[in-house]
Amino acid sequence: MCGIIGYIGHQQAYPILINGLKRLEYRGYDSAGIALLNGEIKVFKKQGRVRDLEAFVAPSLPLEASIGIGHTRWATHGEPNDVNAHPHMSHTLNFAIIHNGIIENYDALKEGLVERGYSFASETDTEVLVHLIEEIYRVSDVSAEDAVRLALQKVQGAFGILVLCKSEPNVLIAARRSSPIVIGLGDGEFFVASDATPIIQYTKNVIYLDDNEVAVLRADDLSIKSIRNIPRIPQVQTLDLELEAIEKGGYPHFMVKEIFEQPKTIRDCMRGRVSRADGEVHLGGLVDVMPRILKARRIIIVGCGTSWHAGLLAEYLIEDLARVPVEVEYASEFRYRDPVLTADDVVIAISQSGETADTLAAIQLAKSAGALVLGICNVVGASIPRLTDAGVYIHAGPEIGVASTKAFTSQVTALTMFALMLARARRTLSDERYNACLQALQLLPEQVRLTLDNTAPKMQQIAPRFADATNFLYLGRGYNFPVALEGALKLKEISYIHAEGYPAAEMKHGPIALIDENMPVVFIAAKDRFYEKILSNILEVKARKGVVIAIVTEGDTRIAELADYVIAIPETDEVLIPILSVIPLQLLSYYIAVLRGCDVDQPRNLAKSVTVE
Ligand code: G6P
Repeated sequence: MCGIIGYIGHQQAYPILINGLKRLEYRGYDSAGIALLNGEIKVFKKQGRVRDLEAFVAPSLPLEASIGIGHTRWATHGEPNDVNAHPHMSHTLNFAIIHNGIIENYDALKEGLVERGYSFASETDTEVLVHLIEEIYRVSDVSAEDAVRLALQKVQGAFGILVLCKSEPNVLIAARRSSPIVIGLGDGEFFVASDATPIIQYTKNVIYLDDNEVAVLRADDLSIKSIRNIPRIPQVQTLDLELEAIEKGGYPHFMVKEIFEQPKTIRDCMRGRVSRADGEVHLGGLVDVMPRILKARRIIIVGCGTSWHAGLLAEYLIEDLARVPVEVEYASEFRYRDPVLTADDVVIAISQSGETADTLAAIQLAKSAGALVLGICNVVGASIPRLTDAGVYIHAGPEIGVASTKAFTSQVTALTMFALMLARARRTLSDERYNACLQALQLLPEQVRLTLDNTAPKMQQIAPRFADATNFLYLGRGYNFPVALEGALKLKEISYIHAEGYPAAEMKHGPIALIDENMPVVFIAAKDRFYEKILSNILEVKARKGVVIAIVTEGDTRIAELADYVIAIPETDEVLIPILSVIPLQLLSYYIAVLRGCDVDQPRNLAKSVTVE
């Protein structure tokens, strides 16, 4: 969703801001803008992509300024257009603001401002805040920093903001509540952003703002206070991130780069955690809370989108291997339906970004009920790992493609390790079964590599046959039902083809009515305990002339005789099939989307990190 970049220092701000906006494009956006301060504040903003903004600014170049702010907007209040794009200016043109998040009481604040003579250019909630800051600055005769702090005390909702003030030209002000702000420390300069991606090329030393904090940046000085004016000593952290990780590295799209990174990302997720020597799984982040986990009455898993699919798989894994009751909930439903929660529950929040608004709210609810809350996250230092009691980082590295791929397989890897650790501690598995799972885990990265090598050419070859399809059905049973859901989600996200995932046996309760010679049906039919059953489901589809694409285990000849297209994956323990079977589905959606000319990395209307509910 919206992205923030800011700069103050000795360099020209404009190239840094534009470059930063390009790095932020992956978050999903519909307009972009910048403000530069040099004597006066100059604002340029444009609906569309960052390149449209660049073209718009080009006639005004060179733009001399060593302080500035930039924003990519994903519309919430007001349609995506030039006027609603950020930055927004105050009446006297003394302040400019960019804002991520939502100001919930903006109606009430706006009413007051209108009564006091303010008029509004845009339909955004953000413009309310900049007028409020200016009013306080003017009426109370305080510094810009104090005006921002006092204005934020009146605001309900979420914000990550940057503010420029023409009459205080050496100051850049940043603040956060529920919407991340990270400050990069350069040599006599600061880079501020909504995540580390635009900062990493300049510095690895960063400070994360906490909720309800304001940072005041001058080229050679930084101070952090709460919005109630209590100072905080800043804690500098080092980013464990390389620039190559956020570049395409020769691939045409981030998504395909990330699909092909999976042998490495899965290995990284397991590194130091699965030990051949003692046959144990070590998830260091959970050691201290293990006694409480073992006492849990049940486990509730919350997440959204692809992370919810990983959660659904975890339900199968944990109940199957560790015999603990598990419930899986969409975070957005859980947070509002007044669930029954006690201090005996363990809640696991799964999130790639660690910033998803609904998942954050679900965590807050679980914490207020006294439950132990664990996080399974990718982005180090994000809001969810900071809010949870303990957790596991999946170490997939930055995921830039909006459609999640490598984060999903690493989430499932981490959750499989968790299920095995729990099973070991609860003695719910025989040594033989436990060791077989552990061994299969260790073979996994290499099997993922083989799966990529063998299925990518095949998927590329069959994609043209389906590039004009209008509907797709994905069917699986047991561990492969969540994979069916994930395969369908991938296809609709990036190719805009309607696709549904279903438990294969449910087909006859509805979707079977859709099947004819035009309906492609993807079966995830690798050899597991449901093999015979899914074979019958394939026959049911073939009897109605459906076109069957089957993901099977290497060497399977029975399905090969029935299906129109067969894609083989290596044999593994059934608990790990999803990590292999999802790979050809990721590839199928990628190749189809490319053939359809879709914007694979930034599909329309979608955002990478959904920071509003
Ligand atoms: C968005 C993204 C999805 C992601 C979901 C949850 O919808 O486009 O790819 O699965 O948010 O995000 P999270 O960061 O919490 O995993």
